[in-house]
Amino acid sequence: MNYRHLYHAGNFADVFKHIILTLLIQALQKKATPFMYLDTHAGIGRYDLTTALAQKTAEFQQGIVKLWEVSEAPPAVVTYLNLVRQFNQINQTAPTSKLRFYPGSPCLVKMLLRETERMILCELHPGEVQTLRRVFAQDKQVVIHQQDGYQALTAYLPPPQKRGLVLIDPPFEQLTEFKEVIVGLTTAYRRWATGIYAVWYPIKQRAAIKQFYQQLELSPLRQILVAELLIYPDDTSTFGLNGAGLVIVNPPWQLDEQLQTLLPWLRQHLAIGHQGSYQIKWFNT
Ligand SMILES: C[S@@+](CC[C@H](N)C(=O)[O-])C[C@H]1O[C@@H](n2cnc3c(N)ncnc32)[C@H](O)[C@@H]1O
Repeated sequence: MNYRHLYHAGNFADVFKHIILTLLIQALQKKATPFMYLDTHAGIGRYDLTTALAQKTAEFQQGIVKLWEVSEAPPAVVTYLNLVRQFNQINQTAPTSKLRFYPGSPCLVKMLLRETERMILCELHPGEVQTLRRVFAQDKQVVIHQQDGYQALTAYLPPPQKRGLVLIDPPFEQLTEFKEVIVGLTTAYRRWATGIYAVWYPIKQRAAIKQFYQQLELSPLRQILVAELLIYPDDTSTFGLNGAGLVIVNPPWQLDEQLQTLLPWLRQHLAIGHQGSYQIKWFNT
């Protein structure tokens, strides 16, 4: 477990994931009844972009920094940017418009949660979970477990609220993670078929992604929406991240239409030298 998300916080893949996460939470909040949010691979929650680890890769320069000053954006981006601004206000003593802190998925969702809603966060790395616990100290809405995220899918599903969102955001240090995701998703879906599931994945070699999609098609999962954002040409390198994707099972109504506006805008603002692309497709409808 060498992965530290601080190296990647606020990069284009985080921006893509977190804007769609915001849309998913907002869709759940169209109903008054509370829901549960489960984050299987939570990270540390709050990322200080001035620290040495973040500065070493400076990946946030190709992500959140590119959007920080935009004057016009689709509503989903405006909401997300307002949350990141609010997060910076909360975490800095003097009023400031400077970007220093980046909210990971737990902090972003926490800012949106209504009082009756709950979240469960799982993080396996001992140091990272300690930091996460500090971020949410005394917070009654949040339960944190130092636990394998895939085990959490059987431990906490279905939730008592019967509504909710599960974010599965593993580090993908090994290619076998794609298989683990399919097994985890299938197990969770058998226990709770009506939940919303969002799985983030890296796009490097297209062959691995094709295989992943084939496995999704063969799985018992239904209503699978897939969104991809590439900032480099597809399949160009065996090492680098060309893009990122999200598999969304049981997506809210009209999410695909919202993505049709959001993804071209993100491609236009985040692609390197306008090389990127995007894709939205359905499986097993
Ligand atoms: C991509 S990061 C999570 C980022 C976070 N979801 C966000 O959007 O801000 C993946 C995290 O999973 C943790 N991790 C790795 N293996 C895990 C496992 N089996 N179960 C739970 N967490 C794990 C890593 O320590 C890392 O913090």
